[in-house]
Amino acid sequence: MEPIDQNDLPEIVPTHIAIIMDGNGRWALARGLPRLAGHRAGTENLRRVIEACIEFGIQYLTIYAFSTENWGRPQEEVQGLMKIFEDVIDRELQELHDQGVQLRHIGRLDQLDPVFQEKVLHALEYTRHNRRLVLVVAMNYGGRDEIVNAIQRMIQDGVSADEVDYDLVSKYLFTAGVPDPDLIIRTSGELRGSNFLIWQGAYSEWYFPPVYWPDFDKDQLRLALEEYSHRERRYGRVAAAKDEQS
Ligand code: IPE
Ligand code: IPE
Ligand code: MG
Repeated sequence: MEPIDQNDLPEIVPTHIAIIMDGNGRWALARGLPRLAGHRAGTENLRRVIEACIEFGIQYLTIYAFSTENWGRPQEEVQGLMKIFEDVIDRELQELHDQGVQLRHIGRLDQLDPVFQEKVLHALEYTRHNRRLVLVVAMNYGGRDEIVNAIQRMIQDGVSADEVDYDLVSKYLFTAGVPDPDLIIRTSGELRGSNFLIWQGAYSEWYFPPVYWPDFDKDQLRLALEEYSHRERRYGRVAAAKDEQS
């Protein structure tokens, strides 16, 4: 991969990018390949995007790998995906660790195969002191499920109604301690959130590149960052320039 010229970076780089890695199936279909070939190409691409994020100085990258709704896909695809995820951990863990990547998981781990759970827990433990990039993997994740889980645990902990505020809710989400995403990217041209980070993304900027996930390369990421650096985040307030004139 061509190294990035540090003078060539956009002025404002987001701290946290979240990606809905969509379009693997259509990428494969367009090539006359089975859907699983698209998922394998997607994981190959992920490695390149992680490297590019490190070079661009991104601190947090969240990736949507498998949603709570994806269980509704044909069994063959679900099983194939689980096998691919397992292979990725086996193959990539050491490399990710050497690159300084800290792995985190969001979603329901306890509903997954016990051997896979063990591998994930080991990967989290193994990389927990790394600081270069935090890679948050949303696997068996759903935003509504996350909120239900948070409410259940607050009740179990005996939290009283007047203690509940935005900060407390954030602490009970799977993402506790991770800053909200600045930029959410969804590849493949679909214009929806599909149950991803519905609380955390309240004020994220959205970006929809018209390419399938396996084709989302470093140049595509650079375009996303350039676009982001020109966005004005107002959080419900008025534009800064207008503010000064009034
Ligand atoms: C995203 O690609 C990957 C997962 C959901 C695991 P898709 O499998 O949704 O690809 P399309 O949307 O069918 O093209
Ligand atoms: C969202 O994509 C989930 C992941 C990328 C893991 P989907 O392809 O499952 O979403 P819908 O069904 O098109 O909304
Ligand atoms: Mg899809």
